[in-house]
Amino acid sequence: MDLLVYGIGQLATPTGGEPQRGAGQRELTLLHGAYLLIRDGRVAAVGEGRWPRFAGPTLDAGGRAVTPGLVDPHTHAVFAGSRVEEFLARARGEKYTGGGILTTVQATREAREEELVDLARPRLLRMLAQGVTAGEVKSGYGLALVHELKMLRAIRRLGDELPLTLVPTFMGAHAFPPDISREAYVRLLVADMIPAVARDGLARFCDVFCDRGFYTVDEARAILRAARDAGLGLKVHADELAHVGAAELAGELGVTSAEHLLHVSQEGIQALSRSGTVAVLLPGTALVLDEPYPPARDLIAAGVPVALGTDFNPGSCPLSSLPFVMSLAVLRLRMSPEEVLTAVTLNAAAALGLADSVGSLEPGKRADLVVWEAESYEEIPYWIGQNLAWAVVKEGRVVVS
Ligand code: NIG
Ligand code: FE
Repeated sequence: MDLLVYGIGQLATPTGGEPQRGAGQRELTLLHGAYLLIRDGRVAAVGEGRWPRFAGPTLDAGGRAVTPGLVDPHTHAVFAGSRVEEFLARARGEKYTGGGILTTVQATREAREEELVDLARPRLLRMLAQGVTAGEVKSGYGLALVHELKMLRAIRRLGDELPLTLVPTFMGAHAFPPDISREAYVRLLVADMIPAVARDGLARFCDVFCDRGFYTVDEARAILRAARDAGLGLKVHADELAHVGAAELAGELGVTSAEHLLHVSQEGIQALSRSGTVAVLLPGTALVLDEPYPPARDLIAAGVPVALGTDFNPGSCPLSSLPFVMSLAVLRLRMSPEEVLTAVTLNAAAALGLADSVGSLEPGKRADLVVWEAESYEEIPYWIGQNLAWAVVKEGRVVVS
C-alpha cells in the first residue's frame, strides 16, 4: 500500500535497527509539522515542512502526534475458559502460585482450533484498536504435543487473518501436565516436542517458566539448549515469583529476552547486561499479583535494554492494554516517557527479533504507525486507561480509524 500521512503535529520515534540501552533508550527523534510517505507498505520518506507531491491516498493527521505502531512482546492471548474465581480469590488476599494454569490447560485442551481462533480474535482486535501492530503469542496451555500444535496453528491463522504481525512462541514448558511424570515430560519436551514444533515451522521462539514451583534452572537449561539446537530463538520467564537464578541462566545462554524479572538479583542484572539480553518487563502482572514492581531503573542503569509488554493471560494478568502498561511504567517503574516509548516500540521489536523491520519510523522499515488523539507522545501514558489511538496504520493501510 502507498499512503501519504501529513499534518503530523509531532512525530516521535526511536531510531535504528538495534535495541537501545542506557541513555540511548531516552533518545527519540522528534519532528514537528511532519509528513510520512509510504510506498509498498514501507516508509519511503519522513520529513518536516512541505510534503512531496503525491497522487495516491492521503491521511490528514490534523496536528496530532504520531508514533510507530506499538509492539506487545509478551502475551498468552490464545486460551479457552475464564478464571474469574481465581481473580476474586486473589482480591480477597489469596496468593498466586501458578496452580491455576492447569484450569486453563483443561479448557484449552477441550477447545478445537477454530474455537481458539474465534476466542482470540476479539482480544487481538482490542489490542489493535489501542495501537498494537505487532506482538507475540505464546503456546503453553496444551502441555501435550497435539494441543500445543493446535495452539500454534491457531496463532498462525490469526496472524494470517488479522492486520497484526504475530510472533509465535512455543511454551510447552509453562507448567507440568497432570497426566505424566515431571521427568518424563522434560524428556518429551527435549526429544519430541521441540523437534516437532521446529520441523513444522510453527514457532520462532521457545520459552520456559523458570521459577519457584516450575522448571528448575537445570531443567530450563536442558530445554533451551534443545530449542537452540532445533533452530528456535530463546526466551525465559525469569524470576517472576521468586529469585531462582533464571536471569543468570538467561545471561549464560545469551537468550534474546528475559521476561518478568520481578525478583531478579543484582548478579542477574549484570548477567543480562553482559549478554545483551532484552529485559521484557510486565508491570501489569505485579499490579494484579500484588508483587514488587521490576527494577527498571537498575536494569537501565546497568545497560540492559528494557522492553514493556502486557503478559495478557487469563490468570496472572487479564490486562491487554499496552497504553495502560505505559502509564504503570511511568508511575511505578519510574521510567521516563521517552524510555517507555522506546520500550514498547524498538526494544519490544528487538525482543521478538524484528528490530530491523519494525519498531521505528525511518526509511525502509514497515509502515506501522499510530495517530494519537494527543499533541505529544508524553500524553499517551498521562491519560490513564483512555484509548487515545485515533488511527492505526498497518503496512501503509489504515486499519483502525
Ligand atoms: O506470565 N508465569 C507464567 N505464565 C503466566 C501466567 C499464566 C497463567 O496464570 O495462566 C505469566 O504470568
Ligand atoms: Fe507470561
